[in-house]
Amino acid sequence: MRCDRFRERPMLFETVSTGGCRSYVIGCEESCAAALIDPELSQLDRYIALAARDGLRIRYLVDTHTHADHFSATQQLARQLGVPVVMHSASPAPFVDLRLQGGELLVVGRLRLQALHTPGHTRDSMCLCVEDRVFTGDTLLIGGTGRTDLPSGDAGALYESLFEGVLKLDPSIKVFPAHEYKGRSHSTIGQELAENPRLQKRDRDAFIEMMHSLNLTMPTHVTEALRTNMTGGKTVAQMLSEAAAIVPFMSLGELSTCLESRRSELIVLDVRERDAFEEGHIPGARLLPRGQLELRVNQELTDPTRRILVYCEFGRVSTLATATLRQMGFGGAVALDGGMKAWREAGYPLTAGKES
Ligand SMILES: [Fe+2]
Repeated sequence: MRCDRFRERPMLFETVSTGGCRSYVIGCEESCAAALIDPELSQLDRYIALAARDGLRIRYLVDTHTHADHFSATQQLARQLGVPVVMHSASPAPFVDLRLQGGELLVVGRLRLQALHTPGHTRDSMCLCVEDRVFTGDTLLIGGTGRTDLPSGDAGALYESLFEGVLKLDPSIKVFPAHEYKGRSHSTIGQELAENPRLQKRDRDAFIEMMHSLNLTMPTHVTEALRTNMTGGKTVAQMLSEAAAIVPFMSLGELSTCLESRRSELIVLDVRERDAFEEGHIPGARLLPRGQLELRVNQELTDPTRRILVYCEFGRVSTLATATLRQMGFGGAVALDGGMKAWREAGYPLTAGKES
């Protein structure tokens, strides 16, 4: 993570880098209103802290397009700050509050952010021009362009968006992309026209052929990023952290002590599948696979006041299962910290075979 800060009247400007992803805070110095462009989920608190440090109030949360390579923070920040999510009108995301058409302006204090519809990387891609700079999303990168082989990408549309759109801006305009992997803060339209290898194919067919022959590897988490960014659904990490927030955990050592004391009223519940259970389980454990939990719980766990220790193989499924049990009224449900794998590796006893 790296933050660059420089000041140029009348705006306050911040770049936040998360790996190769770039987010920008742009604020009006006079009114203290700001917009946040392409925020990333892991930096939620940082954006709010940066705005507070500079005395800015974030008024708009903007995604330049549906991201396929990271998790957008716009929806979560919108809930926390009570401000609208802004995207191009072609965005499929249902949580967008303000859908811009090309040419429309966002008013941020005395600043005017003008949307330029630039489909190609995705159908909903837009660039935002303000003062001496343009936020190009993944349409134009420093020395590159966005890829066009992901869902809704179109190399022909990107050609037109570049050569008929963003590259017609004044050559002195500064380019701030949504990705930069070499640590450069920005470039200019003129520099890109002169030096960007992808822009040297000025013929439409040659440009399309070049884009189709790139053979790029898929970004990590592409399916999950598209699912959550397009629908406003939750990531797996969010589901787990929300469950963990309402669940207490028991250590391996504490469970071992409970089992040895034999006076314990603890029910030990294995939520893995039957074959894993029969290969080796915690002595005295009962089997109730996660997939059957809600439907069999009334037969298997007749006393909702009992203390129930839940475990699975790695400690993740059991966290979700324990949260479910607590939501169903089993207030004594607790998850094993570490799961069966940790129990096995620590050399604690195992029993093989069916339930005793
Ligand atoms: Fe992208």
